Amino acid sequence: MTYYFIIDLHVDFYAPVTRTVAILRKHFVDYFERHFLPADACCIAGDIANDYFTYVEFLKFIAEKYSAVYVCFGNHDIITEHLGRFGADKEFATSESKIKYFLAEAGKIPNILLLENRIAEGVAGCMGMCDFKYKHSPAASEIANKILWATRWFDARHWKYMQNNADKLWRHYDIVFRELTAQRPKIMMSHFLPLEFEMSERYRQDPYSNFFYFHGAEYLENLDDGSIWQAGHTHTAIKREYIDPLGKKHLLLCNPVGYPDENPYAEYGLKREDFLVKVE
Ligand SMILES: [Fe+2]
Ligand SMILES: [Fe+2]
Repeated sequence: MTYYFIIDLHVDFYAPVTRTVAILRKHFVDYFERHFLPADACCIAGDIANDYFTYVEFLKFIAEKYSAVYVCFGNHDIITEHLGRFGADKEFATSESKIKYFLAEAGKIPNILLLENRIAEGVAGCMGMCDFKYKHSPAASEIANKILWATRWFDARHWKYMQNNADKLWRHYDIVFRELTAQRPKIMMSHFLPLEFEMSERYRQDPYSNFFYFHGAEYLENLDDGSIWQAGHTHTAIKREYIDPLGKKHLLLCNPVGYPDENPYAEYGLKREDFLVKVE
């Protein structure tokens, strides 16, 4: 079976935010042509849209293109506001209530498997979280990282998720990563990415970079030889092999579309065909 791996779609940066389905779908057709490839199945590891309506309409659209579409949430998908563009046309009191709404909507769409901390057909998915432990400079600290996150970072400003408690969020996803990888899925999807992907040049000096990453070695080690980990959140395309301490090989895939002013393929000279992968 062939799988096409893609992430960080940010569809509402390409299509107008509208409630007219015909207009949205017209833009989705162009978007699909430009960024996707035909395959048996597609894995989308989050950041589909800030806007809830665009998110659900895109799921309906993409469900018609593959026999199965596996999806996990990204940090943009669970924001509780619409950045002022649609005001109060639908309010989500918390990220949890938005997640619940998306799970219910996705459940009505054939071929869509929205994996919120679960495994289906050998594919596991969860949004994940950063572990706040990466230090971009010797002066940085885990505590300072958490304060910066809570006071300045997009997620803490736009989520209402687990009271935006940094410790609680990481503890939750640490357990989820352990439990999902212990079931040895052939494909593991998360939005936040393991540091084992290695940090691309663009993120190395940035004090905010730790908000994208977690240390993933112990979770990767749970997976079988030949497994795939798909992640993103950062908007630089990466494809590399990771060999764990037991000698098992894992394919790491990050194929973001990113924002209109970005070129995710530039740094490593990749192309979308690199993310069409045959999985037995
Ligand atoms: Fe993104
Ligand atoms: Fe993201």
